[in-house]
Amino acid sequence: MTRLSVNVDHVATLRQARRATVPDPVEFALESERAGAAGITVHLRADRRHIQDDDLKRLRRAIGTQLNLEVSLAAPMLAVAERSGADSFCLVPEHRQEITTEGGLDVCAERLRIARAVRRLQKLGATVTLFVDPDLDQIQAAADAGAHCVEIHTGPWANSRASTRERARILRAAQRAHELGLEVHAGHGLDYANVHPIASVPHVEELAIGHSIVARAVLLGFDRAVAEMVSVLRNP
Ligand code: PXP
Repeated sequence: MTRLSVNVDHVATLRQARRATVPDPVEFALESERAGAAGITVHLRADRRHIQDDDLKRLRRAIGTQLNLEVSLAAPMLAVAERSGADSFCLVPEHRQEITTEGGLDVCAERLRIARAVRRLQKLGATVTLFVDPDLDQIQAAADAGAHCVEIHTGPWANSRASTRERARILRAAQRAHELGLEVHAGHGLDYANVHPIASVPHVEELAIGHSIVARAVLLGFDRAVAEMVSVLRNP
């Protein structure tokens, strides 16, 4: 079964809307684990719009599964990442004005900078993933940069309402990544209705899903929302 890493950023988004103490992403991370998540993902943004530094510390202490931290390449963010104790890091591009991550890293254009960041984080014994578009040159550059894993950006596929052409790009990218010895993850824009065609792409081992689970949790509760996604992944 494809592993599920639940992104709890938007639990913090709701809390930060009031600068309150609830809802607490740590509580929901624990709930996700009980409901079958294999890991927890958070994106610590430079503007701290959702997850805060203290959340990261508390998550590290509280959760028993894999803690995956998404961060940009900015020097202060890499410094926070180094101190975080996360099990894995996913390097992502970040622009202050964006509503969510808009595209993959341009590894081809920033080879040296990215390779340096990968080495720096790997020294901690952590797994380093590069978030990339399903583009064969980017996949090759990710392997050249020494990454252990790529997360293939599924946002354009989700926005295209699951076009066959976009899925074919993801299939080719996953295949090439696997041939290059990279572990393959995927994420962005995945929901209960569209997740299966991505979970069934050969070599995709893990999905990072946030918004759709938090949105469903508002209706059903977090435990059921996560359990339903786990069940979709188990029984496509
Ligand atoms: N993967 C990455 C790299 C992301 O930046 C995000 C959004 O934070 C996700 C996965 C999860 O996307 P979504 O919230 O659309 O499920």
